Amino acid sequence: STCQDCPSLAAFRAECQAKYPSYHNAPVPSFGPVDAPLLIVGLAPGMHGANQTGRPFTGDYAGDLLYATLTKFGLATGQYQQRPDDGLTLTRCRITNAVRCLPPQNKPETKEIATCRPYLNGELDGMPNLKVVMVLGLIAHKSVLAALGMKQSAIPFIHGQMAELDSGLILASSYHCSRYNTNTGRLTTQMFEDVFTSITERLNA
Ligand code: URA
Repeated sequence: STCQDCPSLAAFRAECQAKYPSYHNAPVPSFGPVDAPLLIVGLAPGMHGANQTGRPFTGDYAGDLLYATLTKFGLATGQYQQRPDDGLTLTRCRITNAVRCLPPQNKPETKEIATCRPYLNGELDGMPNLKVVMVLGLIAHKSVLAALGMKQSAIPFIHGQMAELDSGLILASSYHCSRYNTNTGRLTTQMFEDVFTSITERLNA
């Protein structure tokens, strides 16, 4: 929790610690079982969400749609309550972020995304039953391709695309379930659920 790999993010964390001492204010660990066949990769913790609670998407606006959808598709059980001790359990899925620390303005720098990538690599390598990686948004998409040692041009980001890699792994791409995307209609609940329909079909295949 004292990672100093990104000096700018470490400094920002210290600022947040002074302002919000009760917050997590540290790299947010992944959530869910490592033997899951599905890994969901978000962008980065939100200030008053995952950065506060210490659990990905928890307390973030984006978490409302994500956890509701996971519950609907049987990938989460219990009642999501925007706090890490709500007892929610993930089944057959794990959630991580491309960048584990809170970035200013919710926008991590390219260098910070690259610096955090070894942790993403660790996630991918540490999941023995991984079948599907779901990326939320372009940044997660690009970072996962880089983590897998692939060219950025190999698989362009297309919402709803289920790309089968040479390794057999499926890369499922979705627009991020952010407040901006849902408010502007770029991502509707139906569109998001459609991606999960494709994913669960693959998981059950
Ligand atoms: N919270 C997260 O943990 N990740 C995101 O990508 C957005 C909100």
